[in-house]
Amino acid sequence: MEIKKLNKLNLKQLTYLEQELFLNPFSENSCLDELTNKNRLYMGLFNNNQLIAYAGATTSFSDADIIKVGVLKSEQGKGYGKKILGALISALKENGITNIMLEVEHQNFKAINLYLGFGFKEISERKNYYGENSHAKIFKLEI
Ligand SMILES: CC(C)(COP(=O)(O)OP(=O)(O)OC[C@H]1O[C@@H](n2cnc3c(N)ncnc32)[C@H](O)[C@@H]1OP(=O)(O)O)[C@@H](O)C(=O)NCCC(=O)NCCS
Repeated sequence: MEIKKLNKLNLKQLTYLEQELFLNPFSENSCLDELTNKNRLYMGLFNNNQLIAYAGATTSFSDADIIKVGVLKSEQGKGYGKKILGALISALKENGITNIMLEVEHQNFKAINLYLGFGFKEISERKNYYGENSHAKIFKLEI
């Protein structure tokens, strides 16, 4: 297992994971933008050179917003989500970040439990943000 910062050489693998995991995935072009924008930080976890988990954030001065955390479906529930989010938070800290925010769909219990485990606290909720009866919970972590 290897955890490292992602770059544009990982474009195909990131695009594949996005499409496997999300209903509205980033396109390959959007993934390229994410991987080359200097205000983004993406970490990836590899097993035998296969990307199986990733976590990415926007960064601005001392603030970061987590954009995505994802683990290949067949590898979920094995601790990789915890490993990759931990690696992203450590990397953000090394980059001088002190506040991390994120938003998550209110019924995404796996992700919510993952964030609570890292000490994220819910600070607000945006009703119907993702559609009818699909609310966004806003979480914050000070590091
Ligand atoms: C959310 C996600 C990243 C978690 O990754 P994972 O590798 O499955 O999670 P882990 O095995 O590392 O478990 C970490 C924590 O998540 C929570 N969790 C994991 N599976 C869970 C389940 N089936 N039900 C409830 N909580 C669960 C637990 O709190 C767990 O900690 P614990 O083992 O100490 O109890 C993964 O399920 C995923 O990729 N989901 C689809 C994409 C997504 O919704 N991303 C988040 C929004 S961008």
